[in-house]
Amino acid sequence: MSFPKNRMRRLRSSDSMRRLVRQTNLVLDDFVYPLFVRDGKSLKEPIKSMKDCFHFSPDTIADEAEQVASLGIPAILLFGLPEKKDEKGSQAWAEDGVIQKAVREIKNRIPELLVITDICLCEYTDHGHCGIIKACPENCQGNGRVDNDGTCELLAKVALSHAQAGADIVAPSDMMDGRVKYIREALEENGFEETAIMSYAAKYASAFYGPFRDAAESAPAFGDRRTYQMDPANSDQAMAEIALDIEEGADIIMVKPALAYLDIIYRAKQCFDCPIAAYNVSGEYMMLNAAADNGLLEREAAMSEMLTAIKRAGADIIITYFAKAIAKNLG
Ligand code: PBG
Repeated sequence: MSFPKNRMRRLRSSDSMRRLVRQTNLVLDDFVYPLFVRDGKSLKEPIKSMKDCFHFSPDTIADEAEQVASLGIPAILLFGLPEKKDEKGSQAWAEDGVIQKAVREIKNRIPELLVITDICLCEYTDHGHCGIIKACPENCQGNGRVDNDGTCELLAKVALSHAQAGADIVAPSDMMDGRVKYIREALEENGFEETAIMSYAAKYASAFYGPFRDAAESAPAFGDRRTYQMDPANSDQAMAEIALDIEEGADIIMVKPALAYLDIIYRAKQCFDCPIAAYNVSGEYMMLNAAADNGLLEREAAMSEMLTAIKRAGADIIITYFAKAIAKNLG
């Protein structure tokens, strides 16, 4: 029997045909747009390390959030830069802290927009680590000194104060062991059982966070994050991290970064039945932008391909600095 001609190409013959058989479509409903809030007044300052991203102040952030909502994006993720940092990151749970003020402004103005808040101490501590530092021997290099359970107690305070300000979802990104349990308990004890937890469950110690650390002024002053964030070489451990977070009370789990970890997203989707979020991080965003700015890649096409790949791998939710750009394409 002769092999049918054009067997595979028949279904690629026209745009309509390709649309008809397309398995993965980006829809706006899946996107989360990250935003940076800095303490101060009337701010909208461009962030040098991140194209088209800005530092807003609590009094200007609602305007931006309104614009995001009007594009049809269902959720934003907030990061805060406090006026002053200290050893413990105490501005992170202050009632008049930068995130608490911003959340109140946004929820007052646009109640239907989902507000997710990042729960971590690294933007608030003067040493830039995601937790508090315990005393250690003279020759200690700085690694291994982040106090796990002491940090979890503070993270629970941060999460509760964000929920009190009106956050719909809290998103711990610190990678301490057991923090989801501490947060879930604090929320429940205080009547916030409706607040969801999106945990950065499989968060790797990645070089792709560079532009963000500049934007959030959160680079560690000594050592690095490898004693709490995951080793990029591991996949089984990611499944263990995710299982633990679900057991402790996470509603949505996240894999971060996305692009170099598509296998982890895929595997998580096969193994677990809770929604999987993927964080298309600052380094992935700027890598593409830098190439496009140098005429090496077509920005829009590369952006769609990158985001489609993340969804095809299994992500139900995509957190990306491209969310506004993709909304303009899809809308
Ligand atoms: C804070 C945090 C980081 C990112 C999100 N939350 C930086 C880090 O862990 O150093 C990175 C986001 C990005 O690169 O876009 N812990």
